[in-house]
Amino acid sequence: MATRLPPVIAIDGPSASGKGTVAQGVARALGFHFLNSGALYRAVALAALTAALDLENESILSDIALKLNAKFDGNSVVLEGHDVTDAVRGEDVSVAASRIAGLPAVRRALLSRQRAFRQPPGLVADGRDMGTVVFPDAVLKIYLTASPETRAERRHKQLMEKGLGANMAALLQDIRERDQRDSARATAPLKKCADAVLIDTTGITADDAIAQVLALYKQAPRAP
Ligand code: CDP
Repeated sequence: MATRLPPVIAIDGPSASGKGTVAQGVARALGFHFLNSGALYRAVALAALTAALDLENESILSDIALKLNAKFDGNSVVLEGHDVTDAVRGEDVSVAASRIAGLPAVRRALLSRQRAFRQPPGLVADGRDMGTVVFPDAVLKIYLTASPETRAERRHKQLMEKGLGANMAALLQDIRERDQRDSARATAPLKKCADAVLIDTTGITADDAIAQVLALYKQAPRAP
């Protein structure tokens, strides 16, 4: 008898669309595991920046991705024994993560690490290619988005809450540039797959979006 793999809810979408908050809320409500796949790309980027590596050297960077000594728990990231949860959220790391995420060998190197998060009773995975590449058999695929202005405002609020300075115009520009890079890359570009449900969070709260995803999950067809 074939072993059935634990169910996956894939939540993809652009930067600051609320994916992380929604994915974690859904995971909490269902008692599922949570994968913040962006944190993996960020950890590789931080390791590369710390070692002053060339961000275009695909073979060195994929080697780092394979051997990375990192632990992920919710949003917390521990790299080589150091808590780098805040460091990986820095804007320099965001830009570097988006650049290295365009390298096919880096993406391949992170595949099995991401799939290892699929444990009973289930997984909510947040990223750009969860439904398209990493978990194409996800029982529910969501594409979460919001207007660039709303996303820049959310990022601004997050940074202010952490006591970090932020400039709205610069954040908006960064969001637009990252959208462009994430959508235009040849490997695993950010896109809504045909079987994903679109949720636009521009005018709704995170709790509303969580409730919508939970309702969709309840109705999602399951294997017999
Ligand atoms: O928090 P934010 O949505 O801004 O970004 P993130 O999810 O932490 O991801 C950081 C970067 O990693 C993104 O800009 C993407 O380029 C890349 N990424 C990716 O390519 N594929 C994923 N599954 C997750 C992130």
